[in-house]
Amino acid sequence: MKVYAVLGDPIEHSLSPVMHNAAFRAMGLQASYHAFRVGIQRLRDAILGADAMGFGGLNLTIPLKESAMALVEPDETAKAIGAVNTVSFRERIRGHNTDGVGASLALRHYGVNVRGADVLLIGAGGAARAIAYQLSREGAEIIVTNRTPERGMALARDIGLEFRPFRGIEELVRFSDIVINATSVGMRECDPRLFDGSILRAEQVVFDIIYSRDTELLRDARRVGAKAIDGVMMLVYQGAEALRIWTGLEAPVDVMEAAVRAALRG
Ligand code: ATR
Repeated sequence: MKVYAVLGDPIEHSLSPVMHNAAFRAMGLQASYHAFRVGIQRLRDAILGADAMGFGGLNLTIPLKESAMALVEPDETAKAIGAVNTVSFRERIRGHNTDGVGASLALRHYGVNVRGADVLLIGAGGAARAIAYQLSREGAEIIVTNRTPERGMALARDIGLEFRPFRGIEELVRFSDIVINATSVGMRECDPRLFDGSILRAEQVVFDIIYSRDTELLRDARRVGAKAIDGVMMLVYQGAEALRIWTGLEAPVDVMEAAVRAALRG
């Protein structure tokens, strides 16, 4: 029996155990996946402990992804993004980042081709960095905007992209083929909109990486006939990619999606 886990704080609401355990069952693997509340102070102990106990692998979430960089051997992708969301244990303890690939596969899942597309990426946190890195590798023309300009400019500089101020967001939305919300805005019902959704057009794609609720942004997008993509498939594909890193096997994404959507329905 191999043991896997997601570490983070808070962690109670993580859907990763439900998603990965469903995958393990469908794949016929003798494995189980658990969530542990671990803060930055104990991350080193937790990673070394998991290695010592022969864990199959770890996922890391808020607030651990950046701190883990100094505790594992990051691969090229994790290095470029500056954050680790997946840890593997073989001869060495390696750090990976599957968030960007997850976002890219989610877009592809819904038939969206990013090559040559004008993408507006809103946000400059860890998720935004991963998406910027992956989609720019795939030939998207990305403009970054962020409420705090210094953070947005740092992301744009690190990945080699263009930054534009947040106050001009509506103009930026108008000129995009794909609008990606990589901020936390929309997680709560009371969150104000990032921009007036009536400026969206039917030809546009709106990808909101939030998966916990149907956001106002996605509803605005549907209202004008634009393609609205929620964060569920990004969650599923980042998990599927982690599973592939740990086991070398293709993950059953349909099963994982069904498990996540069922858990979200409560
Ligand atoms: P994660 O690692 O999950 O991406 P994060 O690092 O906390 O999370 O980043 C959250 C993102 O949401 C940031 O881009 C943040 O903008 P700032 O850099 O200005 O903080 C963005 N964000 C959060 N609340 C926001 C709001 N009310 N309006 C606009 N952007 C917001």
